[in-house]
Amino acid sequence: DLRERIVTKLLEWYLQNKRDLPWRGASAYGVWVSEIMLQQTQVATVIPYYLRFMERFPTVRALAEASQEEVLRYWAGLGYYARARNLHQAAKILVERYGGELPTEPGAIESLPGVGRYTAGAIRSIAFHQPYPLVDANVARVLSRLFGVSGNLRSTSTQARLWNLAQQLVPENEPGTFNQALMELGSLVCIPSDPRCEQCPLLADCVAGNAPDPTAWPEASSN
Ligand code: ADE
Repeated sequence: DLRERIVTKLLEWYLQNKRDLPWRGASAYGVWVSEIMLQQTQVATVIPYYLRFMERFPTVRALAEASQEEVLRYWAGLGYYARARNLHQAAKILVERYGGELPTEPGAIESLPGVGRYTAGAIRSIAFHQPYPLVDANVARVLSRLFGVSGNLRSTSTQARLWNLAQQLVPENEPGTFNQALMELGSLVCIPSDPRCEQCPLLADCVAGNAPDPTAWPEASSN
């Protein structure tokens, strides 16, 4: 069926085209740190920060025991410093309540400061191999084109439709690989302007790719 074809083709493409990034294969803690850094910052900028941060704070406990001042020093230049304060605060909560581990039970990850649905989906799927979806800007663009989803990506109703589509697609087997493959496709092929449709493993099934102008999706947001 369509779902199975999309999953199979995307995973096959990812195996051959993924970038070798330092957080691929990381601990749940490493996945968490990387996904927080990647939320408002580009991959190329994040890499050296991630490596330095993980060397100085290799575990939740090491982060929890550091001073906020030092944590912020390792974040300096990345911007959006609330991310670092939340990460530090969350590490302290994890040590106090969960023995320094990221909890796997439903609802627990989402209750940590700075962790929303996206980050929880990333940690659950990538680190714990749970079939949770994730929708960031890249995934939203890919899914809106693939399924011809109309509507402003910032609207609550469009976001709800995209999360539903992502939920329906994410496989039981290798959910984290699948989610990273969707993000990677959005970064490398299904880019905002001049998408490389001729390189796309999903072209045959893509609404936008088979329309006169693939960039007609997502709908331009007029603020
Ligand atoms: N952007 C944010 N997280 C990512 C990941 N795990 N892989 C690729 N791109 C990403």
